[in-house]
Amino acid sequence: MHKLENPFQETLIQRHRADSCTVVIFGATGDLTHRKLIPALYNLAAGGDLPQQFKVVGFARREKTDEGFRAELEESNKKNSRQGHDATLWASFSQNIDYHCCEFQDFEGYKSLKLLLEEFDKERGAPANRLFYLASAPEFFDQIMLMLRQSGLNVGSGGKWARVVCEKPFGRDLATARHLNEVVNATFHESDTYRIDHYLGKETAQNIMVLRFANLMFEPNWNSRYIDHVQITCAENLGMEGGRGGYYDTAGALRDMVQNHLFQLLSLVAMEPPTDLSADSVRDEKVKVIRALRRYQGVEEVSKNIVRAQYIAGSVDGVERVGYRQEDRVNPKSMTECYVALRLFVNTWRWQGVPFYMRVGKQLPKKATEISVHFKYPPQAPFPTTLQRGTRNVLVIRIQPDEGISLRMLSKLPGVQLLLQPVKMDFRYSTSFGKASPEAYERLLLDAMAGDATLFARRDEVENSWSFIDEIEHAWHNENSQPPMGEYPAGSWGPKDADDLLAADGRVWRRL
Ligand code: BG6
Repeated sequence: MHKLENPFQETLIQRHRADSCTVVIFGATGDLTHRKLIPALYNLAAGGDLPQQFKVVGFARREKTDEGFRAELEESNKKNSRQGHDATLWASFSQNIDYHCCEFQDFEGYKSLKLLLEEFDKERGAPANRLFYLASAPEFFDQIMLMLRQSGLNVGSGGKWARVVCEKPFGRDLATARHLNEVVNATFHESDTYRIDHYLGKETAQNIMVLRFANLMFEPNWNSRYIDHVQITCAENLGMEGGRGGYYDTAGALRDMVQNHLFQLLSLVAMEPPTDLSADSVRDEKVKVIRALRRYQGVEEVSKNIVRAQYIAGSVDGVERVGYRQEDRVNPKSMTECYVALRLFVNTWRWQGVPFYMRVGKQLPKKATEISVHFKYPPQAPFPTTLQRGTRNVLVIRIQPDEGISLRMLSKLPGVQLLLQPVKMDFRYSTSFGKASPEAYERLLLDAMAGDATLFARRDEVENSWSFIDEIEHAWHNENSQPPMGEYPAGSWGPKDADDLLAADGRVWRRL
């Protein structure tokens, strides 16, 4: 029998073998470490995916003992672990977690960190690889990099590697992102730099490439000849919980979600097939999409193609919510958007004239991220209803929750008359595979330990996307004529202007 070549197989088998290492987490007392990083490592341990020789050092400013730190992590692991919490497993896993109390700018503390890591090496009888995870507030990144450089911790010893993982936000505009890149790349080689975008670690985001390039039936239709438009929605039913207002008010939806997560999804949908699955081949193709985006300059172009808004008081799931400007730590006169809708064009041969509509917002009716690909109508209408609203073929990729893919198509209604009705073919991860997908951070931590940077943002991706975002921000904060800031009640699907953006093109947002 003819054996089909599977371009994915070999790479998948080669991946996920994490090298033995010590992970040093900067900002270890923070929320990210408690809610995401430690539970992810614990779940990797539960799945037998952690390397044999494995240690974690929590680096932070507050005084704590190793035992105190472990006890706090245990409590948060009980709440956040995907596969529950097993006391015996926790006991053996947590033995390998230490705490190192130090100010980020205190050189002595880095020297003692080095001694601690050398002590571990002695216990093991060989030097270990080192993974430095920047989970602290971004204003400390410069200091930490400098100290790692000065203490020589950035260079692996005895043939072992040293890598850095940078959490978002990676800059707040092109200038700050470039500066950060300079600082990070002065300390670590680009191939040892892993910029996190946790959307890339989501199982369904990874499946976009598989859907497109491992199935022959989609790719021939994946272009302006057959596709009318694409929608990407990232709706959240939360607002500024957990004291996030302070950070969020300095960022806004465009910086917080579009520059990174939404652009990553857009790239995966619009990219050309990579020649192979190496990190650079994939990222080469992704960055071309961002570079090909039609640029919007000036207030007029920006207002015509981009809508921004803030939520006002309303209710989500029956719970009353205050308006954005009344949120804790938010400026009562804030001009920061918590909703944005964009009409984008990717100026390539494949995508000429196909709009990509994206929307993202807080305090919307539900949490849902999905990509929908809306196909054109048939060139001729052989059946009565073929050219009516609601009858296009739509391929929906549900990123979260209820992960899966569905395809809407027209079918004949049973009966003697020739009546057509849209029907849906649906694939659900939960029923098809019968097991829960790993958390994004599990996959990403494992990849960083295994040296696979495919699911991390490369320097040029980050800088190109900031350069696009900067032009919008400039127009929005133009002192002479600022584009309007729309409003929507919490619990609604966003401002009317966002509906008008599509209505102007004769289209509507998909109902989620
Ligand atoms: C983060 C943003 O990067 O992503 C948050 O800073 C947002 O504002 C979050 O809530 C959404 O992530 P997820 O995985 O819950 O969709």
